[in-house]
Amino acid sequence: MDHFLYRNGILHAEDVALPDIAASVGTPFYVYSAATLTRHYHLFTEALSPLPHMVCFAIKSLSNVAVLKLLGDLGAGMDVVSGGEYRRARAAGVPGDRIVFSGVGKTREEMRLALTGGIRQFNVESEPELRALSEVAVSLGVTAPITIRVNPDVDARTHEKIATGKKDNKFGIPIARAPEVYAEAASLPGIEVVGIDVHIGSQLTELEPFEQAYLKVADLTHRLRAEGHDIRRLDLGGGLGIPYTRSNEAPPLPTDYGALIKRTVGDLGCEVEIEPGRLISGNAGLLVAGVIYVKSGEGRDFLILDAAMNDLARPSMYGAHHDIVPVIEAPPGAPTRPFDVVGPVCETGDTFAKGRDLPLVAEGDLVAFRSAGAYGAVMASEYNSRPLVPEVLVKGDHFAVIRERPSFDEILNRDTIPAWL
Ligand code: LLP
Repeated sequence: MDHFLYRNGILHAEDVALPDIAASVGTPFYVYSAATLTRHYHLFTEALSPLPHMVCFAIKSLSNVAVLKLLGDLGAGMDVVSGGEYRRARAAGVPGDRIVFSGVGKTREEMRLALTGGIRQFNVESEPELRALSEVAVSLGVTAPITIRVNPDVDARTHEKIATGKKDNKFGIPIARAPEVYAEAASLPGIEVVGIDVHIGSQLTELEPFEQAYLKVADLTHRLRAEGHDIRRLDLGGGLGIPYTRSNEAPPLPTDYGALIKRTVGDLGCEVEIEPGRLISGNAGLLVAGVIYVKSGEGRDFLILDAAMNDLARPSMYGAHHDIVPVIEAPPGAPTRPFDVVGPVCETGDTFAKGRDLPLVAEGDLVAFRSAGAYGAVMASEYNSRPLVPEVLVKGDHFAVIRERPSFDEILNRDTIPAWL
């Protein structure tokens, strides 16, 4: 469920009509619903209760500081994967002891930043990283709390570019080698082992791969405890999928996922962490675009929008489907026509949808991409020197721009021409 509904034939974000936002900020723009973000966060906390737990929002899915503040104020932790994301979490007022640091390539500088600013744990992904972290911690006179990310060799059955739990992926250490790596961790002066981490992929639409992975983690917990390690926290990653169409089968709900977690690891006496991104932010956001032209081609019609692949990369990058709907609802029974929905970027790949049945839209009309809150704005670029799309947050009947569209002066001023040219 989200809070983007038609009222009197006009698509609203909560109580705000989208044409009002368009009139104020121009198109294209991203718009997020505070009520939907809040609801999705609570679905997870309710699903995990009464287990001791922390829901760490995966910032990579939507990293605007206003959104992080909203979730942080509800009590959310944050999963960060770079110094930049760490700074965002802190700028949103999230204390270090609610931030977990993931990622295969943390630099020493990033380790220092988190160790001095405060950190709940590092999810370590390799032995070289473990040794580097120990050295940095010792140099600062502290110890670094860690989990080790294990790769359970489970097929997440999702898009190959976002599956991370198979043994040929770059992530984590093979689960069979975990005892050896934990033994080394325990011997390092700057390291304090606090738990185990696993994350097998994103947009999972079945629970079974999670179940396989979590059962392996439960076994490993027993084994590592028997070897003297204090495993008191399990970070079970993110990855629960969302419905991208209104019609397809619904992926499992957070309550089902919570029940699975309780069933597989609930009796270990560990604090459970999860790192959901998409399920919290995905259906909490729309990308709203204007129609520039309707162009008739050879046997097909093109809807040319002012949004492009640089603004929403998922269709061109993963062949992802996003529902596209008119902001002014077509009357029931109104005719539809197949359109190729494209942007203005000079690449054939700048195609959002092919042969998509849409009501008859015209120049100047507004359309909205649904499910665009996650991996939308964060993956945008300025390709073709197109300014980054602004972001708007709606709460009830008010809205605010939470990231301005940059001016062309700002964009041009970032480049410098050397004096010797
Ligand atoms: N934790 C870790 C360690 C991750 O790598 C990810 C996502 C998450 C949590 C959050 O996963 P989620 O709950 O959002 O599925 N750009 C792609 C998705 C990349 C996901 C990367 N890692 C897309 O647009 O589909």
